[in-house]
Order: sequence, then structure tokens, then C-alpha cells
Amino acid sequence: MCGILGYVGHLNATQVLIDGLKKLEYRGYDSAGVAVLTPSGFEVRRSVGKLAELENLLHKQPVNGHLGLGHTRWATHGAPSEVNAHPHTDHTGKIIVVHNGIIENYISLKEKLAAEGCHFKSETDTEVVGHLISHHRQKLTKRNSDEKEIFVQAVLAALKEIKGTFALGIVCSDIPDVVLGARRDCPLIVGMGDGQNFLASDVPAILSYTREVVFLEDGDLAVLSQNGVEFLNVSGKVVQRKVHKISWDPVQAEKAGYKHFMIKEIHEQPRIVENTLLGRLDTRTFHAVLHELDFLKKEADSLSRVRFIACGTSWHASLVGSYLIEKYSGIPCQVDIASEFRYRDPIIDPGTLVIAVSQSGETADTLAALRLAKKKGARVLGIANVVGSSITRDANGFFLTHCGPEIGVASTKAFMGQLVAMHLLALHLARFRKFVSNTHLVSMGKHMTHLSQWMTETLECEEKVMQVAKKYFRRKNFLYLGRNVNYPVALEGALKLKEISYIHAEGYPAGEMKHGPIALIDENMPIVALVTKSSVYDKMVSNVEEARSRGADVIAIATKGDPLVSQKAADVIFVPEVPEDLSPLINVIPLQLLAYHIAVFLGCDVDQPRNLAKSVTVE
Ligand code: M6R
Repeated sequence: MCGILGYVGHLNATQVLIDGLKKLEYRGYDSAGVAVLTPSGFEVRRSVGKLAELENLLHKQPVNGHLGLGHTRWATHGAPSEVNAHPHTDHTGKIIVVHNGIIENYISLKEKLAAEGCHFKSETDTEVVGHLISHHRQKLTKRNSDEKEIFVQAVLAALKEIKGTFALGIVCSDIPDVVLGARRDCPLIVGMGDGQNFLASDVPAILSYTREVVFLEDGDLAVLSQNGVEFLNVSGKVVQRKVHKISWDPVQAEKAGYKHFMIKEIHEQPRIVENTLLGRLDTRTFHAVLHELDFLKKEADSLSRVRFIACGTSWHASLVGSYLIEKYSGIPCQVDIASEFRYRDPIIDPGTLVIAVSQSGETADTLAALRLAKKKGARVLGIANVVGSSITRDANGFFLTHCGPEIGVASTKAFMGQLVAMHLLALHLARFRKFVSNTHLVSMGKHMTHLSQWMTETLECEEKVMQVAKKYFRRKNFLYLGRNVNYPVALEGALKLKEISYIHAEGYPAGEMKHGPIALIDENMPIVALVTKSSVYDKMVSNVEEARSRGADVIAIATKGDPLVSQKAADVIFVPEVPEDLSPLINVIPLQLLAYHIAVFLGCDVDQPRNLAKSVTVE
């Protein structure tokens, strides 16, 4: 969602802000702005639309300085417009605020401040923040004379009054060398530089300047100046925060010659699998070695239930995980959409392990569901891709998928990392449970070492996928069908298509077809069917027959060398033969490519689809 950038140092702040905001574009936004401190105070530039619009404006009305705030806004309160775009100012024009999150009590705060004479210009919830700080600053000025101290205390007092979630960047022209950053339930990091410091929503924004990062904790207030950063807790006490050295290469956050991040990330997947497996699959014994689960050592064999909580693509990965864990370790699994889990008083018994799955580690619903589970006494494992993210910090233990930064809004390589995590987890738990034979587990572990090579082979289908995409890209609806572990893959394929091409697509377990969706099938409804060799192959072939006899064009994903499917489907995309349980990692690739190429043929904004945000940090 919204992207925040703050800078204090010796470089041209406008340039640093625009550069950083570009790296945060993937988060999704509809307007953008910067505020830069000049000798005559803050100058604000804002515009609707992409950053190019803001750059045009800055070209016509340049602004230069060494301290400032930048923001990309994803509208929640008030339409995307110049007046609603951030930064927002208080009534004196001295205090500048950028915000990600939702101020839940903004109406009552606004009424209170309006009664004191504040005039509001925007429809946003954010605007109250600047006015509120200003209100406290005025009160404190009567008792104190240290401008910086007053400013910090005024911010702390204002934050106490605010209900809701926030990552905030705050500056004041009377304290011309300080940038403040505060967080509650929304991600915010501090980049520690040499003679310069940064505030940002996410790591890629500052990677080209520094790799030393502090992930702010809830309630933290960071006070950045050119010469250093001080961290305060909610009560204003100085606290120490760990500085993380980020290993991500800045180049990983670039397109490397690809047209879009999404296609680059699809092609990175064979390497992602290797990264996620590294050090976790013993290449001698073929056992999973998960130190991340050490916190469960004593309890693993007495687990009575696993409950996954996740949203979107991470929910699909969790569904695959539930099939695997039940099959290999005999532990009953339940998979909840986090936004449902958090509002329905879920049952957590002492033997329950909750697994929160999230690429970003910051999804508001998943985080709230995790906290609820913990409150009810669950042991929680987090699976995330972002080091230092909230979910990794709140869980009892966490597993990092090591996919590198995922920039495309539509998740691809992070899904792959999650699938690998599910396999490792299933193998690991299975060893304690002795539900299936060791030979079976070893054989699966061995197969996993071939994954990367199978995936590279699978990517060779891209040419064929492009032909298929060209043939079908004008269709208005698609139905995706799969069974068993490939049912979640059908869901994922449909989600990818709708996210980036805006074509209506549904994923279904193929066995459900007769219970309703078959009524939709005619010559206008292409069916994407996952018909690779498996225990449910014959059933899937029957589903293909049923669809074809109703006039549908079937696009089949089939195993190389399968002559039968070619006779029945209008188009076949072949993938290498792999064990059924590993087939989701292979079969999802042609579906990702299909969604991508259809979107490209339609001329859609693949990496930043409309209305979507990479990291959904508000409800
Ligand atoms: O960061 P998370 O994995 O928690 O995000 C969950 C969903 O918002 C995310 O998977 C979303 O569905 C993606 N746009 C899918 O491509």
C-alpha cells in the first residue's frame, strides 16, 4: 500500500525521494508527492497518477534541499486527487506528514480540531495528524523552550490520541535537521547511512544507498538527523534497536533486461527453489533440517492440529501445505483466510500449531489473525519472505523463504518459495510422526533436489504459452480446473489472470464442476485444465471430455509425451513428468506465463495492476 520515503543528508533530497519512491511503486498507488525543505520553508509538490506526473511537475517547478518526505498514496479515505495526495500540512504550513495506514478515530479528532479553528483541506484521515501535532506543540511551547524536544513530545502526545494503524513520516520547518518516523502495525524501516539517514516503507527503496537497516517496532519513534538516529519507545524512553545487514543485492530489485518484474521473477524461480532449499534439505540423508522449528522440538509428535492463516496467493500455498502435511504426517490441517479467522472466535486447543503465511510478512489481516491465535495460546510459526517483517517478529518461530525482493504485485516467485517451504515442513513434521515410511520421505527429499532442473525445463514452454495467449486474450471469462494438490494451483492460475489482465477467471476443484459451474460452459468459456500424470489423471481427463462436449476450448497442462490429452484438448502445454506432490511447483509456471502474456497482449500494467497493492497493510 502507500509508500513512505524520508531523507536527511547531503544529497539532493528531491532526487533521493523520487528514486526511492520508484522502488516502492510495486506497492500500488494512485497519486504521489514530495515535500522538501528550502530556505523559505517546505515546498510541496503533489500529483495524481504515476510518478512520471510528479517528475513532470518537478521539472516545471523544481525544488531543492537536503531534507524531505515523499509518498505514494493508495487511496482509502477520499478519491485519488491532488488535494488528497500526501504530504499533508498543518494549518501553519510548518508541519508536514506522510502516512500509511488508517486513523480510525479521525472523524472525532477532526471535529475536535475544527472546533479549535483548524481548517481541513482534504478528505483524508491523515490530515488530522499534522493538526493534532501542531495542537500539542502549541500547548507544550508554553512550558519548554527546546524546539526539538517540544516537537518530539508533541508527536508522542498526538500518537497517544490516535486510534488505528500507521507508519508516519513527520517533519517541521522549525527543526530543519530532523525527520521523525513512527509506526503502529504498518511497516517502516530506517536506513542508516554515512552522514545521511533514510526512512522507508520497504528495503528496496534505500538499497542503493545503504544495506544497514533497522526495522522499527510497534510504538517506536525514530528521530533521524544527518549525524545519527535515536529510537524512542511509546513513553519517549531511548531504546536500542538491532541494525540488520541486508544481503539482498540492489540489482535483484531491477528488471535485468526483462520487460517487466513479473516475467523476471517467473524466470528466477529455478534459482529461488535452490535458495529456499539451501541448508534445509540435507543432501546426504535427504531429510529436511529445519532449525526454524526448534521451538517445537518437544511438542512436534503431540501436535493435534495445524491451522494455516493467510490471504490471497499465500492462502493457496497454505492449501497445498495442508494436503502435504495431512498426507505425510497424519496431522489434521485446516486452512483459514486470515480475515475470516480473526473475526470468528476460532478454536485453538493446546495441541494446535498455527502457521501464518505471508510473502510480505506485513499483511494486516494475517498479522491480526496471528496475534489472535497467540492470545488464545497457540504456538505460531511464521512463513515469510521479508526479513524483519512483523510476522517474523510476532511468531514464536519463523521460516524465511529467501526469494529476494518480489516487486511485481502479482506474486510468483514468492509463491514458489512458499510451496518449497510447505514441502520441507511436511517432510520435517513427518519424521517425528512416523506416519509414512522413511523410504518414502527420503525418496521425496531426493526428488526435491531435481526441482530446479525440472523448472528450468518447464520454462521452455513459454513460446507455446505465448501462442495460446495470443489465441485467447480477447475472451472475457476463464475457468481453471484442478484436483488434489493441483486444485490450489487452479485457484492460483485464476487469481493471476484476474489480477493482471482484469479478465474474470474462476478456479474450481474439477469434481465440483457438475455442482454448478458446468452451467457456464459453452464455446465462449475456455477451460484451463491441469491434466498432468497423477492419481486423479483419469478423473481430470473425464472433466476435459465433459467440457469439450459442451463446446469449450480446453487448454490443457499435460505431461510431456501424453498422446491422449492432445486428442481431447484444443491446446496443450507440456511440462516434464514429476511426482504428483511436486507437480504444483511445475504446473503453476505455465499458468503464471499464461496470465502474464495475456496481460501483455491486452496492454495492461502488469507490474502495478489497478487497485492492487503489494503489501496490504490495512484491512
Ligand atoms: O504478503 P502476503 O503474502 O501476505 O499477501 C497476501 C495477498 O495480498 C497476496 O498474495 C495477493 O493476493 C497477491 N497480489 C497475489 O498475487
